[in-house]
Amino acid sequence: MTVDDAIKALSPQVLKMVKNNYVVGLGSGRAATAIVRLLSTHLRKSNFSVKAIPTSLQIKMEAEKGGIPIIEPDQIDHVDLVFDGADQIDTKGNMIKGGGGALLREKILISMAKKTVIIADETKFVKKLDRSVPVEVHLFARNTTAIKIRKLGGKPHIRLLDRGYPFVTENGNIILDCEFGKISDPKSLATKIIEIPGVMEVGIFSKPDVIYKTRKNGRFEIL
Ligand code: A5P
Repeated sequence: MTVDDAIKALSPQVLKMVKNNYVVGLGSGRAATAIVRLLSTHLRKSNFSVKAIPTSLQIKMEAEKGGIPIIEPDQIDHVDLVFDGADQIDTKGNMIKGGGGALLREKILISMAKKTVIIADETKFVKKLDRSVPVEVHLFARNTTAIKIRKLGGKPHIRLLDRGYPFVTENGNIILDCEFGKISDPKSLATKIIEIPGVMEVGIFSKPDVIYKTRKNGRFEIL
């Protein structure tokens, strides 16, 4: 069973949340892609219309393929609903995101959203966050930020592509993936990192409104 099967199983719930003329923020990655495909089929079968704001070229291309109208963030003053995935979620709903590098735009849309819905498979759920935290950093601050992250007890690694070139985000920045071991106070850590000059965004996100935990057997739980 894949995340797509689980999303098929929860499609009635998902579609019930989307109302006519909604502005829908689209996260990036597999979960967001499955939602785009579901929405696209639904829009084709109904008189229903939505406008989408994608957080990356990856999800923008999926939305275009599915015929979902796209608007720019400058054209709206609110976002009704955001659908997104997560890389790790703790028992309090704190999340690590940014595995695909779209954390800055994801955080902006989520901050504007009336409701945020996260879909993640059961392997992503942990007691305490312990995955490396993606930190988007301005190029000028590559080393200065790394020094300050180390002072906070972290081990920063610049994200590289397969052939060793640095990964550059769609905003022209680099990502430092920072290991902190088990994170007992994610909010306080996020606050300390975001205060470092040159840090554009931190991949620690607070509890969303709805979490769908999808299971290997194609079923899901609402948290
Ligand atoms: C994109 O940068 C991330 O924040 C994704 O939302 C996250 O990596 C989850 O992706 P999947 O849905 O592909 O697991």
